[in-house]
Amino acid sequence: MHKTVQDIINMKKEKKKISVITSYDYTLASLCDKAGIDVMLVGDSAGMVMLGYENTIPVTMNQMCMFTEAVSKARKNSLLVADLPFMSYQTSIEDAINNSGRLIKAGADAIKLEGGSIMAETISAIVDVGIPVMGHIGLQPQTTMLSEGYKVQGKTKDSAIKLIEDAKELEGIGVFSIALEMISHEVGQIISESVRIPTIGIGSGVNCDGQVLVVQDLLGMYDKIKPKFAKRYMNLSEDIVKSLEEYKTEVESGAFPAKENTFSMNEEELKKLREALGS
Ligand code: KIV
Repeated sequence: MHKTVQDIINMKKEKKKISVITSYDYTLASLCDKAGIDVMLVGDSAGMVMLGYENTIPVTMNQMCMFTEAVSKARKNSLLVADLPFMSYQTSIEDAINNSGRLIKAGADAIKLEGGSIMAETISAIVDVGIPVMGHIGLQPQTTMLSEGYKVQGKTKDSAIKLIEDAKELEGIGVFSIALEMISHEVGQIISESVRIPTIGIGSGVNCDGQVLVVQDLLGMYDKIKPKFAKRYMNLSEDIVKSLEEYKTEVESGAFPAKENTFSMNEEELKKLREALGS
């Protein structure tokens, strides 16, 4: 049985840190699951790292459902959370519930959406129909990004108080955890100490209850943006390019495919074939 929302809530009570990683495809998701990652997040960052968009704005529900289905086929142990993309929940509460339902039917256990108190009514309605929700405050790529660009949030007293209030309100309406994106580490800590549900930080300091990274950033596969908070654990893109260059060279020289990569006819059948062809 895979992890449940309750298991993730319990991890905070047991003072166990929560590992979260984004996943979008079957192959990498299988490896994340095998590594024992607690939560796989089908983030709308898929738009950038999988589909090559400049930002997350163009991502559609159909695309998110396709990524969610692929990841759900791979997961055995992790909790699976999927993002509601831009304009799939801001338009009406009905849209928000319908689209949350689509992600759950595609295999997610919970959904995530961006926004603090402004989204309270919408989040309440989704929670009320029985769909677990992860909140997302701080930098909100679907909206903050449009107006301000990539900017650390919660650096002033007033903006910090707003974030703390948002977090408390989200807890009050029943989200099971909150992603904190690019918030000063001091405010990340205060929020984490102010709510009983787990906080999952991305660029919000070590005192969050868990951490999330985009898997391509962690593996060193995406070079377009290199955020300060995204630690690279390897430089996979270099290895991939090296292997592809080697493949190209071997194709050109005839070194690939070698005998061990080749299928053969049995001698007798080959002889008969040659006779039949008159050669
Ligand atoms: O889409 C995403 O990858 C996210 C994380 C950055 C939290 O929302």
